[in-house]
Amino acid sequence: MPDSLILGIETSCDETAAAVVRGGRDILSNVVATQHDLHKRFTGVVPEIASRAHVQRLLPVLDEALRLAGATSDQLDAVAVGNRPGLVGSLIVGVTAAQSLAWSLAVPLLGVDHVQAHLYAPLLTDGGLRRHGRASLPPSREQPESAARREARPPKPGDDVYPAVGLVVSGGHTTLYRVDGPLHLTRLGKTIDDAAGEAFDKAAVMLDAGYPGGPAIQRLAEAGNAAAIDPPLPEPLKSDGSLDVSFSGLKTALLYRVRGQPVGRGRDARFERDASDLTDQQRADLAAAFQDVVVRVLVGKLRAAADQIADDAHPARCVLLGGGVSANGPLRGAVQAMCDDLAIPLHLPPLPLCVDNAVMIGGLAHHRFIAGQTDPLDLPAIATTAM
Ligand code: KG4
Ligand code: ZN
Repeated sequence: MPDSLILGIETSCDETAAAVVRGGRDILSNVVATQHDLHKRFTGVVPEIASRAHVQRLLPVLDEALRLAGATSDQLDAVAVGNRPGLVGSLIVGVTAAQSLAWSLAVPLLGVDHVQAHLYAPLLTDGGLRRHGRASLPPSREQPESAARREARPPKPGDDVYPAVGLVVSGGHTTLYRVDGPLHLTRLGKTIDDAAGEAFDKAAVMLDAGYPGGPAIQRLAEAGNAAAIDPPLPEPLKSDGSLDVSFSGLKTALLYRVRGQPVGRGRDARFERDASDLTDQQRADLAAAFQDVVVRVLVGKLRAAADQIADDAHPARCVLLGGGVSANGPLRGAVQAMCDDLAIPLHLPPLPLCVDNAVMIGGLAHHRFIAGQTDPLDLPAIATTAM
């Protein structure tokens, strides 16, 4: 595979990110300016604030990515950008920067689907993370990088990876795929309502656990006992035979457990209580029970997807996991146990590459680059995924 030097840009939601990747595998730099500090008081991403922050942060982040990689812009073979899916106002910032750079450097422009890129993250070498960088603006990530090194298992060069079963679990998407190559994904099932990350984020608001919600629920659940929640929270679409998942019923069930029954009507309607009326132990138990159901639902459907692929002529060679929720410790452990049981390898991204980053964009773009799939300079920003 010929080497390429690609600058990746990612601005689809609330992370302003840039990275330099060589040959679709080696991470030369990875810079992420997260906006958690800006959205925290709203307990969710505010699109207008996100786009404005991308405008302010992208140029220093791009400079830092080149500096850490020890590269100059004239050494780049292409500029890649996550151009879908995401918040359009946020995507436009990255896409416009990528268009301008590609034009001024006279190199190809490559648009990358962010969801597809999440499933490429486990295939990148974490050795490059020693150059992992951070712009001066963001607060630190929620998870220690040492844990990422310990758990992540990228395949060795030459390992057979495809066909794989892939699960993208992020704030916006929860989708199962059959993966026949970096650019060849066939959807097997998806959430029929909320994404798993969105459910974690809402659960964190209900339980007053902190922001961002996923890591906050994981932390709160550490002190909890899921079995203490009786009756247990419902496990949606458990045996419907499909590979679809659903989290809105679980979310509503949690809401009633936390807040009790609605009282009053119309403008006077309210709940019996809120999270502040629960003991710390009750909140932790509910967080543990909620996380437990999400993990069980995801692993159950992932296993069914692996079985479905195994029925075909070629059994699944591995399981690929990606997206912000793939940073969840209990989920990583449960998927590893499932893979051990099925005797198939699991490739997990290191923690910094689970959440949004530009490494996965620059890495996957290499495969479009060597296939000659470059884009015109009027590449659009698109809110939805093609996957
Ligand atoms: O992939 P990502 O950074 O952005 C999207 O493409 O949506 O995923 C963000 C999501 C958020 O919902 C966040 O709460 C969740 O990933 N997340 C986690 C954990 N870390 C991040 N969910 C559960 N456990 C975690 N440790
Ligand atoms: Zn993402």
